[in-house]
Amino acid sequence: MSARGAWGAGKIILLGEHAVIYGHPALAGALDLGVRVDARPGRLRLRVPAWQLDVDADDDHPAAAAVRLIADEIAARAAEAVAITMDDGLSAESHLERPAVELVADATVPAAAGLGSSAALAVAVTRALAAASGARLAADEVAEIANAAERAFHQRPSGVDVALASAGGLGVFRTATGLTRLPVPPLALAVGLSGEARSTATMVARVRDAVGGDARDPRLVALAACAEAGAAALGAGDVAALGPLFDVAHRHLGALGVSTPSLDRLVELARGAGALGAKLTGAGGGGAVIALAPGREADVVAAWRAAGATGMVVTVGASP
Ligand code: PMV
Repeated sequence: MSARGAWGAGKIILLGEHAVIYGHPALAGALDLGVRVDARPGRLRLRVPAWQLDVDADDDHPAAAAVRLIADEIAARAAEAVAITMDDGLSAESHLERPAVELVADATVPAAAGLGSSAALAVAVTRALAAASGARLAADEVAEIANAAERAFHQRPSGVDVALASAGGLGVFRTATGLTRLPVPPLALAVGLSGEARSTATMVARVRDAVGGDARDPRLVALAACAEAGAAALGAGDVAALGPLFDVAHRHLGALGVSTPSLDRLVELARGAGALGAKLTGAGGGGAVIALAPGREADVVAAWRAAGATGMVVTVGASP
């Protein structure tokens, strides 16, 4: 696939998942893994071979519904722009067509693992369809449309995934203020995949029950404090300080009920292989763990693989 397609990055939440939904800060970065989408002439459909996904835009499937929503949103904006500037006597409705393109995605980020795969796809599809329609979208419009697609499938997403999928980099995200980039070099991490099926919506609901919907719950406040301390440490160039913060955050996430025995085991294996700290990342209930092991990432991945899990070394904070 060409390197010219439309890109959306995966993401890693370093600290602050779940708490971020309640207005607290999360420290997160874009992955060097993501989704690249090429638009080719054809009938509107989406193929993601790496995820065994192949849908026609009219299919009764969540991914097809996302493509429809994005295509219609772009068409509506294009029509609005035409209606404002139009002096050729055409009706704005004549521009309200979905583009006839086949979207083919090269996905390097694993699906449904807490690594922002759906936001990466939504951003890449938005960019590809905008380009195919000749629509010029500002960065915040790309994020708005991709977030609308995300909202249709996840209850109450904080927006952190889409912010990083579209803007890249590493920073502190808050629902109230969006992403504030930290000018720090990209960070190497080991990522382990539990392979367990998971649902973000179920985990978000579990935390809501656990905290009774209260943003002041001490576990959420503690997770937010970890995110703030992590941002301060990174800002000061003290990457190693993230390790103990990962450990503390994993304990609080466990107390909220979103860890699993497999995730706990991956975390233990990472620590045994020399990691300075490890935790689950994303919604939990399965998915991925991250481990900070400067210079020893490969040892951690080897320990996971020896135990039958999948692992890889990634870079967090890459810019598009
Ligand atoms: O597991 P993911 O990639 O869906 O990430 C979820 C992160 C949460 O904080 C749990 C939800 C959110 O919308 O921020």
